[in-house]
Amino acid sequence: MEKKPFYITTPIYYPSDKLHIGHTYCTVATDAIARYKRLCGYDVMFLTGTDEHGQKIEEKAKAAGVTPQEFVDRIVTGEKGVLDLWKLMNISNDRFIRTTDDYHVESIQKIFRKMYEKGDIYKGAYKGKYCTPCESFWTESQLVDGKCPDCGREVHDAEEEAYFFRLSKYAKPVQELLESGTFLEPASRVNEMINNFIKPGLEDLCVSRTSFTWGIPVDFDPGHVVYVWVDALFNYCSALGFLNEKYDDYDRYWPAAHHIVGKEIVRFHSIIWPAMLMSMEMPLPQKVYGHGWLVIDGGKMSKSKGNVVDPYVLADKFGVDALRFFLLRTFPFGSDGNFSNELLISTINTDLANDLGNLVSRTTAMVEKYFGGTLPAERESEALDEELVGMIRSTKERYAKQMDAFQLHVALEEVFKLIQRANKYIDETAPWVLAKDEGKKARLATVMYNLLEALRVALVMLTPFMPASCEKAFAQIGAEGEAITWDKAGEYGVLPATVSVHKGETLFPRIDAAKMLVELEEAEKAARGPQVKLNPVLPDVTIDEFAKCDMRVCKVLACEAVKKSEKLLKFQLDDGSGTPRQILSGIHKFYEPEQLVGKTVVAILNLPSRKMMGQESNGMLLSAVREVDGKEELHLLMLDDSVPAGAQLC
Ligand code: MSP
Repeated sequence: MEKKPFYITTPIYYPSDKLHIGHTYCTVATDAIARYKRLCGYDVMFLTGTDEHGQKIEEKAKAAGVTPQEFVDRIVTGEKGVLDLWKLMNISNDRFIRTTDDYHVESIQKIFRKMYEKGDIYKGAYKGKYCTPCESFWTESQLVDGKCPDCGREVHDAEEEAYFFRLSKYAKPVQELLESGTFLEPASRVNEMINNFIKPGLEDLCVSRTSFTWGIPVDFDPGHVVYVWVDALFNYCSALGFLNEKYDDYDRYWPAAHHIVGKEIVRFHSIIWPAMLMSMEMPLPQKVYGHGWLVIDGGKMSKSKGNVVDPYVLADKFGVDALRFFLLRTFPFGSDGNFSNELLISTINTDLANDLGNLVSRTTAMVEKYFGGTLPAERESEALDEELVGMIRSTKERYAKQMDAFQLHVALEEVFKLIQRANKYIDETAPWVLAKDEGKKARLATVMYNLLEALRVALVMLTPFMPASCEKAFAQIGAEGEAITWDKAGEYGVLPATVSVHKGETLFPRIDAAKMLVELEEAEKAARGPQVKLNPVLPDVTIDEFAKCDMRVCKVLACEAVKKSEKLLKFQLDDGSGTPRQILSGIHKFYEPEQLVGKTVVAILNLPSRKMMGQESNGMLLSAVREVDGKEELHLLMLDDSVPAGAQLC
């Protein structure tokens, strides 16, 4: 039978910063759905990528002193960049698009021209409130408390010549699309879109910029670059070869498309995106699913709230599969979820170490202990088995219903009901008692077989979430080939009667929470590198003002600690004048006197002389000072000894 196409996408990420666990959440969820659909026999095309244009990237590159292309290359393809992260997280994307790829640029230029020629894009002047971080223009009425409605930051007045897309023309068909069927899910997001954006009146959308250059040029008006969201949204089609020669899959996978996106970009995907597709007379995707955010203490994810959010650190400490599982098991996909390291640890300990891990290790250990690893063929069933066997047969249907609705956490809940039932079955059947009775061998073998069957179907359904661990667990319970296919996930009696198990490594070791939290903090610190506090640059001085400071090279003739002072060192310096100069300096915390004798240092000489601890100081030694991890660091300025005393700094 010919496989049905299923096209699934993540948003393409802005490579303006390293990705955190929130971004990872979105990609892992999409990956689980893609793997599930492959398991079910679909011909899946899974796309992810990076959205590399726009003012924010241009500004960040400038601040970093590199070109925008170098900047994004570093975050996308560099060490521990986006590509490395998806590899680490075992993301099974079939394609990766970068909006700076030539073929994408070609498509976007053709698309922009097409909408222009049709009259859906026209030239005008834009006057509005602009949010630089979001790269969005807003009308006064859209602002929330005078601030950007998306990110809550300040906006400023901006005006520029620009092209506009006739979004207003598509208000009615877009509203009809949202109200009919299941284009946008969860359903709660539909009302939000209609009430907040469509009902107040859809205004035409500004789709070009002239205030910066890092974007795709409008080929018929090169002073303009295409608005980053037009550039970004059409990635879903250019990545299939729409209006370019790079790929040839557009007819195969479009419109079998499912866009998984975070809640703050639902507006772009459920209003602007279908409107532009309507303008292009292209079929509409099947679904936009707006998932919730991972938040910390109810607020935005950030590094400063005492929780590790670096996916590299988390994957290293907990394992990739445990991390993937936690993200999708814990938080209802459509709503926000409060992320914390404590929750991560307790989920792993409860579900993976206790429930699943224990079931695998107890079952395989008992089959080895009681039967040398291979079950005998004899069976003896009891009424007690019926409930478990019934669940082995029926869980698949309930799971599939939830997976098809992208209710990943509920699907996992169904699998864990089966796992918990199997653990209870061990207590009910007490295999250790049966093992003492020679006459109960067939009964004991039946109990073991039922446990292995429960594990087999549970593991098939867990595969999209934890592919590597399930592969290991299949080997341990002796399940392979057809037995681990989706087709057989709702059947009982699939493993061979004389199945052999192979007890292996513990799949999910229990985590010592207190110890782990300390380790995490240390690992995060190491990954972050030292936190250096930089003071802002001081107000300008003129060159004449600067030239008034007489700074000279001096040799340290003698140095000693000042009595009764913890801080002060007293220096006798050769400043080139022939008369030793005395300077006191509060640097004893950083240097011992004997370290400094003979060194070549720099002092400012024309400061008024002053007394400290009753001793005179005629000038000041220069040091380099900074704060690292909240601690002051000081380095006395020292020059090469070949620089003569008295040389003047200018
Ligand atoms: N470049 C746009 C998407 C263009 S798609 C045509 C963009 N990029 S992003 O990098 O800012 O965000 C990518 C995705 O990560 C979004 O879906 C966003 O919701 C998601 N997340 C960012 N932080 C998140 C959390 N804290 N939690 C969950 N998802 C989060 O938007």
